[in-house]
Amino acid sequence: MKKILAPSLLAGDHGNLRSSLNEVESDGRKWIHLDLMDGHFVPNLSFGPQTVADLRPASKLFFDVHLMLERPDLYLDPFIAAGSELITIHLEPEYDHAAALQKIRAAGLKTGLAINPDTPVDLFFPYLAEVDLCLCMTVNPGFGGQSFKAYVLDKVRELSKRREEEGHDFLIEVDGGVGPQHVRECLDAGVDVFVAGTSYYKANPEERAEFARSIGELKE
Ligand code: DX5
Ligand code: ZN
Repeated sequence: MKKILAPSLLAGDHGNLRSSLNEVESDGRKWIHLDLMDGHFVPNLSFGPQTVADLRPASKLFFDVHLMLERPDLYLDPFIAAGSELITIHLEPEYDHAAALQKIRAAGLKTGLAINPDTPVDLFFPYLAEVDLCLCMTVNPGFGGQSFKAYVLDKVRELSKRREEEGHDFLIEVDGGVGPQHVRECLDAGVDVFVAGTSYYKANPEERAEFARSIGELKE
């Protein structure tokens, strides 16, 4: 599976997101992780679909959009129209998950499912054959700069095992508190996509390049 370092714009400069986005692009990264929050599912707000739409023309990066919303199904149209390439929705809130995934796929986008640190990995199982990405949150979502919860890697190992045994090809993503010091244990567990906000934006260009190299992200 390809290995990707996906910086989270949540840790960028919210007064100048375009420059925080450009940093990622000029750094040679391929993905940007966009964290959307509604103040209900998570106790914070970040930005909205108009922000994503306005950033889209300025960037060739793959927009990995993470909807931390109580009802992401009610907001799919604006995020699809904004130019997302992949939309990830959480399994904890009550709504028609399958219908939401179908809508994302029908729009030609990649689909992602996410669970929080204390949500059982079994919630993913009915969807493994159809989903493009499984996001295992390694912090309780809402804020950047928290500490990495290593116990979540047990769920990654379970997903990786099932992927192998059942012949699926979804990517496994971790998000929250991820830094260079976690790369080895994450790779060994089966992680493909490393979302990094704080650890990425506080690093200098050399440290960022080393972070990407340690993950095995190939420059295309
Ligand atoms: C939910 C967000 C954050 C962010 C990463 O809180 O999803 O996890 O992407 O933030 P850092 O890497 O700063 O923990
Ligand atoms: Zn995220």
